[in-house]
Amino acid sequence: MSGNAMTLEGAIYLCEAGDVPNGEGKRVMIDGFNPIGVFNLEGELHAIDDTCTHGDASLCDGEVDLDFGMVACPFHQGCFDLRTGEAVTSPCVLPVKVHPITIVDGKVYLKGQ
Ligand code: FES
Repeated sequence: MSGNAMTLEGAIYLCEAGDVPNGEGKRVMIDGFNPIGVFNLEGELHAIDDTCTHGDASLCDGEVDLDFGMVACPFHQGCFDLRTGEAVTSPCVLPVKVHPITIVDGKVYLKGQ
């Protein structure tokens, strides 16, 4: 085992970093968690709860705005900041949860939380 074992303690595998194209999101289902969306902002990956806080929409089906680092919900186009989870445009008000991740050897892990 490599030195990564310490880093990965308590971490949960989400997906391959290369499976998330720039400007898109990948929905990941993990037992015990709400669906998680892993998004690629110019090579920087971010993980948030995938379900919109305004309704039952998958944010991974929405459009990513690379300039502003946001995703627009496909239902009513409310936007969330992919770095902070903040709801930035109406009708969304409540933030989505942000999940801390780590990337080791091209694999994306949810950090132990
Ligand atoms: S369900 Fe997402 S903005 Fe309405």
